[in-house]
Amino acid sequence: MSQTDIDSQLPSLVEAYRKNKCSIRATALQFDVSRATISRRIDRARELGLLESSEKTEWGEIAQMIDKSEASEPIFEPPSLVQEDIPIDELIERRVHDFKRKAEAYESRKLIPIRVKEPGPIGLIVFGDPHVDDDGCDWPSLLRDVEIAKQTPGMMAGNVGDLQNNWVGRLSRLYGEQSTNKRQAWQLTEWLATEVPWLFLIKGNHDMWTGTGDPLDYMKIPGQGVLEEWSVRMALHLPNGREVRVNCRHDFPGHSQWNLVHGVSKAAQMHYSDHILLAGHKHVSGYNIVMQRDGMLSHCIRIGGYKKYDSYAKVGGFEDHNFASSCVCVIDPDATTATGLVQVFWDVEYAADYLTFLKKKV
Ligand SMILES: [Fe+2]
Repeated sequence: MSQTDIDSQLPSLVEAYRKNKCSIRATALQFDVSRATISRRIDRARELGLLESSEKTEWGEIAQMIDKSEASEPIFEPPSLVQEDIPIDELIERRVHDFKRKAEAYESRKLIPIRVKEPGPIGLIVFGDPHVDDDGCDWPSLLRDVEIAKQTPGMMAGNVGDLQNNWVGRLSRLYGEQSTNKRQAWQLTEWLATEVPWLFLIKGNHDMWTGTGDPLDYMKIPGQGVLEEWSVRMALHLPNGREVRVNCRHDFPGHSQWNLVHGVSKAAQMHYSDHILLAGHKHVSGYNIVMQRDGMLSHCIRIGGYKKYDSYAKVGGFEDHNFASSCVCVIDPDATTATGLVQVFWDVEYAADYLTFLKKKV
């Protein structure tokens, strides 16, 4: 169509455009042409003075016209590049998969079932915070307990955490106050982690300071016991069908200056109907028994640990309440009384003798 022909049609187009309230889209639909065509003819109508400058096209329509006409027809071939980001559908699929795996791992740890193969009475020696590289660590007691854990028939072993000082950040200066260096600390830690056939090992706050890539995760723990961060809760399924639940946290929340076992007892009274609840962390010892509604007894224990001489306690003026670095829970599956099912000993040698006697008796 020639420009003259176009110009001759402009008055009718302008009239329609005004009736359509200056809508390019509506006018294009009416004339069955593209919006770009109407846009060009409106511009021409303005040139010829057929339209006032105040009669403007809506901004949204202008943007759409540019998008459709100019931007949709680039003067080059757009390159086809592979995006580094994971496509959104694949990313969502991965997130769903990872969450399911995390949920499964978390839920399976709420109460870990342990089938005990040893018939008759068994013992559980629980080591308090070792801090093996600290000059104040009571190594004679630690060596004694390691031997008792290894040599006593029917004895299993657990640890409440803080295997070593593991100073990090600003605390690294404290390596200057101990005679072992960091490498020796890891030597001693590896020895303890792999010397005892642990039923469970817990990482305390000092162990957690290592962060990801913790060497403990890659050590082969004899007995293939459970290594967990902060806490572990397990149900010991004994050969005679009885279940004894053991719940160990580096520490349970709650504190009382009048009751060193307050947090552990609170957990037994408010949350967990378990037979044995254990904590460490504060380097003080204490014991309390909570009777559950069904008559079951919960033994609430805070173990002092092997760090016998502690400059931090001296600075803070903390009185010495660490009367035992470890304890032993002797479990008699055939006990006919609640008090006979679990008995707690603070003298590990006496406990080992008692367990040996009990097993012979059976
Ligand atoms: Fe500790």
